[in-house]
Amino acid sequence: MLVLGVETSCDDTAAAVLLDGRKILSNLVSSQDAVHGPFGGVVPELASRQHVRHILPILDSALQKAGVGLKDLDGIAVTRGPGLVGSLLVGLCVVKGISYRWAIPYVGVNHLEAHLLAIFLEREVPFPYIALLASGGHTLLYLVRDFAEYVYLGGTRDDAAGEAYDKVAKMMGLGYPGGRVIDQLARSGDPKTASFPRARIKKSSYDFSFSGLKTSVWHYLEKQGRADSETQRANVAASFQEAVVDMLVAPTLRAAREHGVNHIVLAGGVAANSRLRVKMTEKAQGNGIAVYFPSPAFCTDNAAMIALTGYHRLTRGERDDLHLNADADLTL
Ligand code: KG4
Ligand code: ZN
Repeated sequence: MLVLGVETSCDDTAAAVLLDGRKILSNLVSSQDAVHGPFGGVVPELASRQHVRHILPILDSALQKAGVGLKDLDGIAVTRGPGLVGSLLVGLCVVKGISYRWAIPYVGVNHLEAHLLAIFLEREVPFPYIALLASGGHTLLYLVRDFAEYVYLGGTRDDAAGEAYDKVAKMMGLGYPGGRVIDQLARSGDPKTASFPRARIKKSSYDFSFSGLKTSVWHYLEKQGRADSETQRANVAASFQEAVVDMLVAPTLRAAREHGVNHIVLAGGVAANSRLRVKMTEKAQGNGIAVYFPSPAFCTDNAAMIALTGYHRLTRGERDDLHLNADADLTL
């Protein structure tokens, strides 16, 4: 089955062609970082205009790179939420048009579900697994029992982990998006320089909180001066990152232990973080738990994961009609 995936939920315009749910024939992303960078965050109106500009060329390129035409497709999968409604509508409307004109079945895909399944683009993982989805918009913990069987365990009470990275990077004048820059900078820093607090939510809960940490970094920078030297900046970055990583690792491992699950999957942009990958793996090993993470390109937003999730819906015989609407607040 040949499936075209389309992703426009936030600030990346992406298209991919996937064969039989596993072979990626093409996977292209047109990033808008340069457009939003000067504003230190995504500007929704600019994002939808960029999608309008890039969507058709990127669809053409993805098909061309895969060596297929529209007539060869068995189905199309498109993100229908959650995300920015103006951005979502661009992908959804274009896919509806193609589906109608060429009589190709299409399905709307939940962006969160696609992140939880992205690991299957590269390898099999036995069910059940605990999935930590940490991105710019979400920090969520799920028990994944099977395809389409997700049990919500917890989520952030305030900022998402990626949002904390982006805001701290902005405070430090490191540009947007900040996750990758802090990750890189932290490699040469000492994580013990500043002992930032690790928020503790009730013992029984799997929730997260990052806004207190963000405020602590702000106070630290105010008190210590703006971390002018490269070494100072690296030390603050490493200390901040260690706190984020600790706050992500602890509830995830506890969820695995308390649910008797031996597999953990990391997903979302923050799952590309080098320190998170190392520390989660180290701590899990001691508990006899295996940790899996996608390659960085499949952690951040991409259309291959949308095609994969759509493939599973299509093979279950599911189809959407032209009444399907974008849903900015779609949950799983
Ligand atoms: O999944 P994603 O591409 O988009 C959303 O759905 O939000 O995640 C983007 C987020 C941004 O906040 C970015 O700063 C963060 O992921 N990020 C990272 C890294 N690479 C991207 N955070 C920490 N370390 C990284 N290496
Ligand atoms: Zn995402």
